[in-house]
Formats: sequence, C-alpha cells, structure tokens
Amino acid sequence: MDNSLKNIISSGLASLSEMFSSDKSTQSILGIDIGSSAIKIVQLKKKNGKAILETYGAISLGPYGNTEIGTVTNLQADDIVRALLDVIKESNVTIKSGVIAIPSSASLIFTISLPANITEEKLASVVPIEARKYIPVPIAEVTLDWFILPKETESSENNIMEQSKVQTPATSNTEVLVVAIHNDILTRYQEILKKTELHSDSFEMEIFSNIRSSFAHDLTPVLLMDFGASKTKLSIIEEGVVHVFHVVNRGGAEITKNIASSLSISFTEAEKLKRTTGLDLNSNPEVADIVRLSMDYILSDTNSIVFAYQKKYNKNISKVILTGGGSLTKGLMERATSNFHTEVVYSNPFSKTEAPAFLTPILELSGPEFSVAVGLALRQLL
Ligand SMILES: Nc1ncnc2c1ncn2[C@@H]1O[C@H](COP(=O)(O)OP(=O)(O)OP(=O)(O)O)[C@@H](O)[C@H]1O
Ligand SMILES: [Mg+2]
Repeated sequence: MDNSLKNIISSGLASLSEMFSSDKSTQSILGIDIGSSAIKIVQLKKKNGKAILETYGAISLGPYGNTEIGTVTNLQADDIVRALLDVIKESNVTIKSGVIAIPSSASLIFTISLPANITEEKLASVVPIEARKYIPVPIAEVTLDWFILPKETESSENNIMEQSKVQTPATSNTEVLVVAIHNDILTRYQEILKKTELHSDSFEMEIFSNIRSSFAHDLTPVLLMDFGASKTKLSIIEEGVVHVFHVVNRGGAEITKNIASSLSISFTEAEKLKRTTGLDLNSNPEVADIVRLSMDYILSDTNSIVFAYQKKYNKNISKVILTGGGSLTKGLMERATSNFHTEVVYSNPFSKTEAPAFLTPILELSGPEFSVAVGLALRQLL
C-alpha cells in the first residue's frame, strides 16, 4: 500500500473526531465537491475566530460531457478540470488552496466486529484480512483506513430485541469503522488538482464533510440523508461518529429520466417539471406520482437501515437531517416527517459561516446542496 495515500485518508478520518477543534489556519480555503451532476465550491476565510463566506458557486457537469444539465456524468479528468476552472472563474475565487471530497461512490465504508481488547498493532494486520470479505477488488489496489468506534455505544448480538433492554457492557466486541478507497481514485483527484494548479494537503470522504457542516453537536443518534443526482447516501451518526453508512442506488437524475420517458419529453423539460411539482399531487398528479414512487423506495430502504440500527444498538434516531439537491423536492419534508415520526430538518451549512444578512434566505435555500463543499472548507478553518 502507498503510504502517502494512506496518510491522506487518515487525515480525513481524524478530522471527524476533531470536528469542532480550533485554530488550524488563518488562510482562505476552497471546498470542492465534485458531484456526479455538478461541482459545488465554497471559499471561506477565518477572521476573528469565525468562518467568513467569501464566495460560492456551482456548475452543471452535463454540458462538459455533451449531455443535458442535471444528468449523471462520468467524465474524463480533463473535462472535470475544464468545469472546475470555469466555476472557479465564474465565482471569482481568489485562492489556490483547496480541499476536495472523495465521493461515497468511489469508496466503501463498513464496520467490522473484532474481539474485545484487540491491540492497535494487531488491528493493522487483522483489518486488511477482514476487509477482504467486503472489498470486491484485490486488497493491494485499495487504500484502507479505520477508526475504532467508541465502546459505550458498542453493539452486541444479544441486545437486539426490545427497546427496554439495558445497554450491553462494553466488554463484548471492538467495532471498527473501515474506509476503503481504490488507489486509482486518489491518483485521479491528484491529477485534477495538479491540472487546475490547486494546492491541497488532503482529501476527505464527502460524508465526513457533510457531517461537519450539517451537524449541531447532537449527542443522540442522527440520520443524515444526502439526496444526490446519482445516489442517496445515508449515515447514522452518534456523538459525531459514523456508526452506519449505506448507499441507496436511487437519485434525482433517475426521477427526471422516469418523468421524461413516461411523458415523452426531454430531460430538461422533465427536470423543470420535477422541480415545480415535486410530490404535490394538486400541481401535476402524473409527475407527482413518479416522484413519489422513487422517494418511497428511498424512504423504505432507509427504514430498513434505521430499523437494523435500532435493533443492533437499542437506540432510536432522534433527528433526520436532509442534504443534497434532491432534498429540495417539494413535499419531501412532510413525507419524511410522517415516515420517520421524528424531527426532520434541512441542513443549513452556511449558518456556520458569516455572510451579509441579505443573503440569509438564499443561503438557507441552497444550503443542502452546498453541505459537502462548506464542510470541506470548514475543516481547514475551525
Ligand atoms: N428543487 C428541486 N426539486 C427536486 N430535485 C431537485 C431540486 N433541486 C435540485 N434537485 C435535484 O438534485 C440533484 C442534484 O443534487 P446534488 O447537487 O446534491 O447532486 P450531486 O452531488 O451532483 O450528485 P451525487 O451526490 O449523487 O454525486 C439533481 O438530481 C436535481 O434534479
Ligand atoms: Mg453530492
């Protein structure tokens, strides 16, 4: 395994436990989220202990691959570089120092259960062996990192039934969160940075950036849902630590595609209809029905994940945070609230930054889309 690559991810994981630590830098920094449908960037600067929003912007990737705006792309590094340079220019970005997010689709995150009291040294040899069961490519082709989940929330095969059962003593297993990234992915992002002449000391898994910007010191379990164009990413976080991570292979672009094919209209028209209608049956029942089918699939998959977590850890989810462009679907907040029977909120990442007051409404509205980019930049500043 290439050690320089390992260090890069290690710092990503370490940042999770240092989520609210202080005084890392006084420089401006650019958070770069290269999503499957769009790039989002946010430039922040630290001043008087606060993160000042200097600029932000987004650009659709579709046109760089000769497809429509909003489609899921799979572009060559050179096309990404062109788009990134364009959005940097259009947003009047003034700096060359950035952090880039590694998409969840380019990584695997899972937990493994190891014997109690396993030593750090032993972990280094055991994790790669155990991880083989989860990784579909030769282990030499991936970079692994891991993080021991805190003992007090540890699971047990025995405590899975009733909510009333007491917490299992922390003597059973050591639960380890493992992250695996294909080495080619890291090389690709290094190439993109080099070609855009951006300097960066590290990458970060998008889920960790998202948590940093969306989270508000919650100690009880929170479900974070990132409704992207290609996929919906779910994570259950407790005391700032990811306990469960799961990807639902449904996203916003697929909903648009379904609307386009069933109404025989273009993707662009369907995208517009999707945004104006959402889940509102009164506005356009046919469109609302297509949106509902996909959203219900995602919610039902999420329910299974939440249920498994509740059984394993004997704890309920106390809050749901919605992020990603698809979370802006009209009526989703109401549907999610009635589905989860708990508090559901939108991520408001810009609330962790200082910006002119007149921008507050627009920043609140676009916040869910910029959660990853804001979280990346915050990592270097807070
Ligand atoms: N108001 C809206 N109503 C419904 N869907 C919306 C709305 N605004 C944006 N979207 C959808 O959000 C998706 C884009 O979200 P986002 O920018 O978070 O995706 P991404 O980061 O490119 O994708 P991924 O994270 O899967 O790689 C698109 O599918 C778009 O149609
Ligand atoms: Mg995304």
